[in-house]
Amino acid sequence: MNSSRTLALGMLLVGACHSGSPVPTPVHGATDVGTPTALATDGSYVPAADRVGAVFPAAWRHKAGRVPVFGAHAMVASDAPLGSAAGVEILKRGGNAVDAAVAVGFAIAVAYPEAGNIGGGGYMVIHLADGRVAALDYREMAPLAATRDMYLDANGNLTDRSVVGPTASGVPGAVAGLTAALAKYGTMSLAEVMIPAIRYAEDGFIVDSALANSFRSNAKLIAEFRGSAVFLPNGAPLAAGTRLKQPALARTLRAIAARGRSAFYEGAIAEAWTSELRGAGGIITMADLAAYQPVWREPVRSTYRGYSLLTMPPSSSGGVTITETLNILEGYASLPAYGSAGWAHVLGSAYQRAFVDRNEKLADPAFVKVPIAQLTDKAYAARLRATIGSMRATPTSTLNTAIRDGMETTHYSVVDDKGNAVATTTTLNNLYGSGVYVASAGFFLNDEMDDFAAQPGKPNMFGLVQGEANAIQPGKRMLSAMSPTIVLDREGALLLVVGSRGGPRIITSTSEVILNVLDYRMTLADAMSAPRVHHQALPDSLYFERDAITPAVADSLRAMGYGVAMGRGIGLVNAIMRVRGGFEGVSDPRSAGKPIGY
Ligand code: DON
Repeated sequence: MNSSRTLALGMLLVGACHSGSPVPTPVHGATDVGTPTALATDGSYVPAADRVGAVFPAAWRHKAGRVPVFGAHAMVASDAPLGSAAGVEILKRGGNAVDAAVAVGFAIAVAYPEAGNIGGGGYMVIHLADGRVAALDYREMAPLAATRDMYLDANGNLTDRSVVGPTASGVPGAVAGLTAALAKYGTMSLAEVMIPAIRYAEDGFIVDSALANSFRSNAKLIAEFRGSAVFLPNGAPLAAGTRLKQPALARTLRAIAARGRSAFYEGAIAEAWTSELRGAGGIITMADLAAYQPVWREPVRSTYRGYSLLTMPPSSSGGVTITETLNILEGYASLPAYGSAGWAHVLGSAYQRAFVDRNEKLADPAFVKVPIAQLTDKAYAARLRATIGSMRATPTSTLNTAIRDGMETTHYSVVDDKGNAVATTTTLNNLYGSGVYVASAGFFLNDEMDDFAAQPGKPNMFGLVQGEANAIQPGKRMLSAMSPTIVLDREGALLLVVGSRGGPRIITSTSEVILNVLDYRMTLADAMSAPRVHHQALPDSLYFERDAITPAVADSLRAMGYGVAMGRGIGLVNAIMRVRGGFEGVSDPRSAGKPIGY
């Protein structure tokens, strides 16, 4: 892998740091009017009686006891403050949670271009107050001209062409997915829900410090493929406080608002952007666009200690892998003390086993028979649990490849005043996707092709070692880890709307927020601030965020036979929890996100 493969991977810190400095005077349109996730720990928040105070290691950078955002009626939590604002705007105009989620989806395509997109794809899990549930798969698919070995060089070595440049993109699904969701479960017109997005693109918005950092850190990639005129005018990345207008994107959005998905998949705009891409060496054609369809699927339904989960089935691995992990953990009468070596061992071992299955068996169900029933079966989980030693590591294999960092997807959660809930995760894969900016239509294209096993048995960008099931085939969806999830309480009422970004760590970060709330009885804010542990089978080691565990716990784990890796953040979660009198919203303290409720 050359440097461009890792280029976009070092962006984790973008937007992840917040000072405790006082909130500055709001700038009209700014996306960071203050420090949105630097929630106060001023003692003003009284958690519900069933919550237990969390204790984190002394060196851990996020403090327990933060105050969540509260909304008596509704809540939107996303990584982009303007995205959350767009959702709330639609809710206040009378839209439901699906209307608002679609509004957020288009708004973040403008205001959060590193991950929000119309050139990528995603997944949506819906739970309506009347009991209806749905899961929408609008994952990208491999172009019809894709071939199994298309990313190998003449010597059979993996190149970086699945990550960067014009051949890295799957056929985008975002516009098809968002419009399909609105048509089936929304109450407003496309033109109405796209009002905020079009306004952000046409009138512009003030670039905030997180976005400015993002442009600066990714300037080389953006400059390589035509994004300069918009994001690096005069050769310099747009600075915080400047206004960003995106007229080409505004035209595309207006066309979509007027004509629906066909404006993106057929006709002049589609011709223009596909020929622009092909001119640069890409392989997506009008036939690919005509063939693209989002797919309504049955959510994966599972139970955990009496709670119910609704989550995303394949082509994402997220729901099955979370379910398998929680089924393994459910067999323990209680989980070991939070932050202890036992905690890391038990959670890590459960993830490790679930990821072994994920990496080999899960793939696009249109191409591969996926054993969902077996993998989500509690008796099967019990057999896996029996292989976990009391305090010793189980080697996955001898292959040992470093986990790579990457935080370039985005999750948002929406709850409306009727109790309808939507969990959506969407991505370009890497920050700014393949780097290819379609100047004629104003958007970045994804590099989702890297989520395939471009060379089965060899690690991808995330260090995931995946098998033949996820090899490239034309028209196939690449396996994802995206895990939009809705948790219902023991009475079947909405409890949590949750999801994350972070490649394979989506699975761990999403499920750990759930475990922190359900098992460790943390408040939602603490559940989000808490240190996380990750294991993805290969590389065969436990991965922690720096200072997430004490040196003594690390020593114990090494003595148990674990490789212990430390690094940067695991996931960026946006979650909503129903509490007495309304909803709490929390954006991950690792991000510049912002919940807005009312
Ligand atoms: O679908 C997936 O699993 C990945 N493309 C998600 C990528 C992601 O979360 C980027 N950040 N790490």
